Amino acid sequence: MNKLFGLLGHPVGHSMSPLMHNDAFIHLGINGYYHAFDVHEEKLKEAIGAFRLFNIAGFNVTIPHKVAIMELLDEIDEEAKMIGAVNTVVNMEGRLIGYNTDGRGYLSSLQKTLKKPLSGSCVLVIGAGGAARAVATVLANEGVARLTIANRTVGKAIQIKENYQTYRQANIDVASLQEAEEQLSIYDIVINTTSIGMSPNTEEVPIFIDNAHSDAVISDLIYNPIQTSLLIQAQLRGMKTHNGVGMFVEQGALAFQLWTGRYPDTERMTQLVLKQLGGRTC
Ligand code: ATR
Repeated sequence: MNKLFGLLGHPVGHSMSPLMHNDAFIHLGINGYYHAFDVHEEKLKEAIGAFRLFNIAGFNVTIPHKVAIMELLDEIDEEAKMIGAVNTVVNMEGRLIGYNTDGRGYLSSLQKTLKKPLSGSCVLVIGAGGAARAVATVLANEGVARLTIANRTVGKAIQIKENYQTYRQANIDVASLQEAEEQLSIYDIVINTTSIGMSPNTEEVPIFIDNAHSDAVISDLIYNPIQTSLLIQAQLRGMKTHNGVGMFVEQGALAFQLWTGRYPDTERMTQLVLKQLGGRTC
Protein backbone atom coordinates (compact mmCIF):
# COMPACT_ATOMS: atom_id res chain seq x y z
CA MET A 1 0.00 0.00 0.00
CA ASN A 2 1.16 3.55 -0.72
CA LYS A 3 2.36 5.20 2.51
CA LEU A 4 1.49 8.84 3.12
CA PHE A 5 4.07 11.27 4.53
CA GLY A 6 3.77 15.00 4.95
CA LEU A 7 4.74 18.42 6.11
CA LEU A 8 2.77 20.15 8.86
CA GLY A 9 3.11 23.92 9.04
CA HIS A 10 1.75 27.31 8.12
CA PRO A 11 2.41 28.61 5.53
CA VAL A 12 3.71 25.65 3.51
CA GLY A 13 2.90 26.75 -0.04
CA HIS A 14 6.51 27.53 -1.00
CA SER A 15 8.08 24.51 0.66
CA MET A 16 10.52 22.51 -1.46
CA SER A 17 10.15 19.42 0.77
CA PRO A 18 7.39 17.73 -1.33
CA LEU A 19 9.52 18.04 -4.46
CA MET A 20 12.59 16.63 -2.71
CA HIS A 21 10.89 13.70 -0.93
CA ASN A 22 8.60 12.65 -3.77
CA ASP A 23 11.56 12.52 -6.13
CA ALA A 24 13.46 10.37 -3.60
CA PHE A 25 10.49 7.95 -3.26
CA ILE A 26 10.38 7.50 -7.03
CA HIS A 27 14.16 7.29 -7.36
CA LEU A 28 14.44 4.60 -4.65
CA GLY A 29 11.31 2.72 -5.77
CA ILE A 30 9.52 3.28 -2.45
CA ASN A 31 5.72 3.38 -2.42
CA GLY A 32 5.41 6.71 -0.66
CA TYR A 33 3.84 10.10 -1.24
CA TYR A 34 4.64 13.37 0.59
CA HIS A 35 2.04 16.11 0.86
CA ALA A 36 2.27 19.61 2.43
CA PHE A 37 -0.56 20.12 4.96
CA ASP A 38 -1.31 23.78 5.70
CA VAL A 39 -2.46 23.80 9.33
CA HIS A 40 -3.08 26.90 11.48
CA GLU A 41 -1.89 26.99 15.09
CA GLU A 42 -5.36 26.48 16.59
CA LYS A 43 -5.95 23.38 14.45
CA LEU A 44 -2.74 21.55 15.38
CA LYS A 45 -4.35 19.15 17.87
CA GLU A 46 -7.10 18.21 15.42
CA ALA A 47 -4.54 17.71 12.66
CA ILE A 48 -2.52 15.31 14.83
CA GLY A 49 -5.73 13.40 15.62
CA ALA A 50 -6.42 13.12 11.89
CA PHE A 51 -2.83 12.02 11.18
CA ARG A 52 -3.26 9.25 13.76
CA LEU A 53 -6.65 8.26 12.33
CA PHE A 54 -5.33 8.02 8.79
CA ASN A 55 -2.14 6.34 9.96
CA ILE A 56 0.20 8.86 8.30
CA ALA A 57 3.57 7.09 8.23
CA GLY A 58 5.69 10.11 9.11
CA PHE A 59 5.85 13.86 8.75
CA ASN A 60 7.98 16.96 9.04
CA VAL A 61 6.99 19.83 11.29
CA THR A 62 7.77 23.44 10.53
CA ILE A 63 6.91 26.97 11.69
CA PRO A 64 4.84 27.60 13.80
CA HIS A 65 4.40 24.06 15.24
CA LYS A 66 7.91 22.84 16.12
CA VAL A 67 7.52 23.45 19.87
CA ALA A 68 3.74 23.11 20.32
CA ILE A 69 3.68 19.64 18.77
CA MET A 70 5.89 18.17 21.49
CA GLU A 71 3.08 17.67 24.02
CA LEU A 72 0.94 15.92 21.41
CA LEU A 73 3.48 13.13 20.72
CA ASP A 74 3.97 9.80 22.51
CA GLU A 75 7.76 9.97 22.81
CA ILE A 76 10.54 12.46 22.10
CA ASP A 77 14.12 11.63 21.21
CA GLU A 78 16.81 12.89 23.63
CA GLU A 79 18.43 15.40 21.24
CA ALA A 80 15.04 16.84 20.23
CA LYS A 81 14.33 17.30 23.96
CA MET A 82 17.63 19.12 24.43
CA ILE A 83 16.89 21.34 21.43
CA GLY A 84 13.34 21.88 22.68
CA ALA A 85 11.75 21.39 19.26
CA VAL A 86 10.66 18.64 16.87
CA ASN A 87 10.92 18.80 13.08
CA THR A 88 10.36 15.12 12.22
CA VAL A 89 7.79 12.61 13.47
CA VAL A 90 7.85 8.86 12.86
CA ASN A 91 4.68 6.76 13.25
CA MET A 92 5.90 3.55 14.91
CA GLU A 93 2.89 1.23 14.89
CA GLY A 94 0.58 3.96 16.07
CA ARG A 95 3.05 5.69 18.42
CA LEU A 96 4.21 9.12 17.26
CA ILE A 97 7.91 9.64 18.01
CA GLY A 98 9.44 13.13 17.67
CA TYR A 99 12.96 13.85 16.43
CA ASN A 100 14.91 16.91 15.43
CA THR A 101 17.08 16.54 12.32
CA ASP A 102 17.83 20.28 11.91
CA GLY A 103 20.95 20.27 14.07
CA ARG A 104 22.40 16.98 12.71
CA GLY A 105 21.48 18.07 9.18
CA TYR A 106 23.37 21.31 9.67
CA LEU A 107 26.36 19.52 11.15
CA SER A 108 26.63 16.98 8.38
CA SER A 109 26.43 19.72 5.76
CA LEU A 110 29.01 21.91 7.55
CA GLN A 111 31.45 19.02 7.94
CA LYS A 112 31.67 18.71 4.17
CA THR A 113 33.03 22.29 4.01
CA LEU A 114 35.42 22.19 6.98
CA LYS A 115 39.17 21.98 6.73
CA LYS A 116 39.78 20.90 10.31
CA PRO A 117 37.92 18.80 12.91
CA LEU A 118 35.01 20.51 14.56
CA SER A 119 36.16 19.35 18.00
CA GLY A 120 39.15 21.72 17.98
CA SER A 121 37.23 24.70 16.62
CA CYS A 122 36.07 27.95 18.19
CA VAL A 123 32.54 28.61 16.95
CA LEU A 124 30.35 31.70 17.01
CA VAL A 125 26.58 31.21 16.61
CA ILE A 126 24.74 34.43 15.75
CA GLY A 127 21.09 34.42 16.85
CA ALA A 128 19.15 32.74 19.63
CA GLY A 129 15.90 31.57 18.00
CA GLY A 130 14.80 28.03 17.19
CA ALA A 131 17.41 27.48 14.49
CA ALA A 132 20.18 28.67 16.83
CA ARG A 133 18.98 26.23 19.52
CA ALA A 134 19.27 23.28 17.13
CA VAL A 135 22.70 24.31 15.84
CA ALA A 136 24.15 25.27 19.25
CA THR A 137 22.93 22.01 20.82
CA VAL A 138 24.60 19.73 18.27
CA LEU A 139 27.79 21.82 18.29
CA ALA A 140 27.95 21.58 22.09
CA ASN A 141 27.23 17.83 21.82
CA GLU A 142 30.15 17.56 19.37
CA GLY A 143 32.37 19.13 22.04
CA VAL A 144 33.67 22.15 20.11
CA ALA A 145 36.62 23.90 21.78
CA ARG A 146 34.64 27.09 22.37
CA LEU A 147 31.02 27.97 21.68
CA THR A 148 29.75 31.54 21.84
CA ILE A 149 26.12 32.49 21.22
CA ALA A 150 25.68 36.14 20.25
CA ASN A 151 22.29 37.75 19.95
CA ARG A 152 20.63 41.16 19.79
CA THR A 153 18.66 40.12 22.89
CA VAL A 154 21.42 38.65 25.04
CA GLY A 155 18.88 37.18 27.52
CA LYS A 156 17.74 34.68 24.86
CA ALA A 157 21.31 33.51 24.34
CA ILE A 158 21.62 33.01 28.10
CA GLN A 159 18.43 30.89 28.02
CA ILE A 160 19.96 28.56 25.40
CA LYS A 161 23.12 28.22 27.46
CA GLU A 162 21.21 27.53 30.69
CA ASN A 163 18.84 25.08 29.03
CA TYR A 164 21.77 23.12 27.60
CA GLN A 165 23.50 23.05 30.96
CA THR A 166 20.46 21.43 32.60
CA TYR A 167 21.30 18.37 30.43
CA ARG A 168 25.08 18.46 30.14
CA GLN A 169 28.20 20.33 31.20
CA ALA A 170 29.44 22.64 28.47
CA ASN A 171 31.60 25.71 28.16
CA ILE A 172 29.20 28.07 26.39
CA ASP A 173 29.55 31.84 26.52
CA VAL A 174 27.18 34.53 25.41
CA ALA A 175 27.85 37.92 23.83
CA SER A 176 26.15 40.92 22.32
CA LEU A 177 26.42 41.32 18.55
CA GLN A 178 28.86 44.18 19.08
CA GLU A 179 31.10 42.15 21.41
CA ALA A 180 31.09 39.27 18.92
CA GLU A 181 32.04 41.61 16.09
CA GLU A 182 34.98 42.98 18.11
CA GLN A 183 36.28 39.49 19.06
CA LEU A 184 35.67 37.91 15.67
CA SER A 185 39.32 37.03 15.06
CA ILE A 186 39.22 34.21 17.65
CA TYR A 187 36.59 32.16 15.76
CA ASP A 188 37.22 29.41 13.21
CA ILE A 189 33.55 29.18 12.26
CA VAL A 190 30.96 31.97 12.26
CA ILE A 191 27.33 30.88 11.76
CA ASN A 192 24.37 33.12 11.04
CA THR A 193 21.12 31.54 12.25
CA THR A 194 19.05 34.75 12.13
CA SER A 195 16.79 35.80 9.27
CA ILE A 196 18.96 38.87 8.58
CA GLY A 197 19.83 38.89 4.87
CA MET A 198 16.92 36.67 3.84
CA SER A 199 14.91 37.64 0.76
CA PRO A 200 13.56 40.32 0.30
CA ASN A 201 15.99 42.15 2.65
CA THR A 202 19.04 40.78 0.91
CA GLU A 203 21.28 43.82 1.54
CA GLU A 204 21.36 43.29 5.32
CA VAL A 205 24.12 41.52 7.24
CA PRO A 206 23.88 40.22 10.85
CA ILE A 207 27.46 41.23 11.63
CA PHE A 208 30.43 42.96 9.95
CA ILE A 209 33.24 40.49 9.37
CA ASP A 210 36.18 42.91 9.06
CA ASN A 211 37.83 41.39 12.17
CA ALA A 212 37.43 37.73 11.11
CA HIS A 213 40.64 35.82 10.37
CA SER A 214 41.19 34.80 6.78
CA ASP A 215 41.01 31.03 7.50
CA ALA A 216 37.59 31.28 9.16
CA VAL A 217 34.57 29.59 7.58
CA ILE A 218 31.52 31.84 7.31
CA SER A 219 28.26 29.90 7.34
CA ASP A 220 24.69 31.10 6.79
CA LEU A 221 21.56 29.00 7.39
CA ILE A 222 19.65 31.11 4.87
CA TYR A 223 19.15 29.50 1.45
CA ASN A 224 17.06 32.21 -0.19
CA PRO A 225 19.13 33.86 -1.55
CA ILE A 226 21.68 31.06 -1.87
CA GLN A 227 24.53 33.56 -1.42
CA THR A 228 23.60 36.14 1.23
CA SER A 229 25.38 39.50 1.56
CA LEU A 230 27.27 38.00 4.51
CA LEU A 231 28.63 35.18 2.34
CA ILE A 232 29.42 37.55 -0.54
CA GLN A 233 31.41 39.78 1.86
CA ALA A 234 33.34 36.72 3.05
CA GLN A 235 34.03 35.51 -0.49
CA LEU A 236 35.34 38.96 -1.43
CA ARG A 237 37.85 38.54 1.42
CA GLY A 238 38.85 35.13 0.06
CA MET A 239 37.22 33.25 2.95
CA LYS A 240 35.54 29.86 2.76
CA THR A 241 31.72 30.01 2.89
CA HIS A 242 28.88 27.58 3.53
CA ASN A 243 25.26 28.32 2.57
CA GLY A 244 21.93 26.99 3.89
CA VAL A 245 21.07 24.65 0.99
CA GLY A 246 23.09 21.80 2.52
CA MET A 247 21.28 22.00 5.86
CA PHE A 248 17.89 22.01 4.17
CA VAL A 249 18.79 18.94 2.12
CA GLU A 250 20.49 17.03 4.95
CA GLN A 251 17.70 17.61 7.49
CA GLY A 252 15.30 16.24 4.88
CA ALA A 253 17.56 13.28 4.07
CA LEU A 254 17.85 12.36 7.78
CA ALA A 255 14.05 12.56 8.16
CA PHE A 256 13.65 10.36 5.06
CA GLN A 257 16.03 7.84 6.60
CA LEU A 258 14.08 7.80 9.88
CA TRP A 259 10.86 7.08 7.95
CA THR A 260 12.11 4.54 5.43
CA GLY A 261 15.44 3.19 6.70
CA ARG A 262 17.00 4.35 3.40
CA TYR A 263 19.38 7.30 3.02
CA PRO A 264 18.47 9.19 -0.15
CA ASP A 265 20.80 10.60 -2.80
CA THR A 266 21.57 14.04 -1.32
CA GLU A 267 23.41 15.23 -4.44
CA ARG A 268 20.23 14.61 -6.44
CA MET A 269 18.19 16.44 -3.76
CA THR A 270 20.65 19.37 -3.83
CA GLN A 271 20.40 19.73 -7.60
CA LEU A 272 16.58 19.73 -7.38
CA VAL A 273 16.59 22.40 -4.67
CA LEU A 274 19.17 24.55 -6.50
CA LYS A 275 17.13 24.34 -9.68
CA GLN A 276 14.03 25.41 -7.77
CA LEU A 277 15.94 28.31 -6.20
CA GLY A 278 17.26 29.34 -9.59
CA GLY A 279 20.91 28.86 -8.70
CA ARG A 280 23.55 26.71 -10.34
CA THR A 281 26.18 26.18 -7.68
CA CYS A 282 26.20 25.52 -3.96
P1 ATR B 1 14.07 30.88 14.02
O1 ATR B 1 13.14 29.95 14.74
O2 ATR B 1 14.01 30.75 12.52
O3 ATR B 1 15.47 30.81 14.53
P2 ATR B 1 13.23 33.16 15.59
O4 ATR B 1 12.96 32.25 16.72
O5 ATR B 1 12.21 34.18 15.24
O6 ATR B 1 13.51 32.35 14.25
O7 ATR B 1 14.65 33.88 15.85
C1 ATR B 1 15.10 34.89 15.05
C2 ATR B 1 16.52 35.30 15.46
O8 ATR B 1 16.94 36.34 14.57
C3 ATR B 1 16.63 35.88 16.86
O9 ATR B 1 17.92 35.58 17.37
C4 ATR B 1 16.49 37.37 16.61
O10 ATR B 1 17.05 38.21 17.60
P3 ATR B 1 16.20 38.59 18.93
O11 ATR B 1 16.23 37.36 19.78
O12 ATR B 1 16.93 39.74 19.51
O13 ATR B 1 14.82 38.93 18.45
C5 ATR B 1 17.27 37.50 15.34
N1 ATR B 1 16.89 38.69 14.56
C6 ATR B 1 15.86 38.81 13.71
N2 ATR B 1 15.85 40.05 13.16
C7 ATR B 1 16.92 40.72 13.67
C8 ATR B 1 17.48 42.03 13.48
N3 ATR B 1 16.92 42.90 12.64
N4 ATR B 1 18.59 42.36 14.18
C9 ATR B 1 19.18 41.50 15.03
N5 ATR B 1 18.69 40.23 15.24
C10 ATR B 1 17.59 39.85 14.59
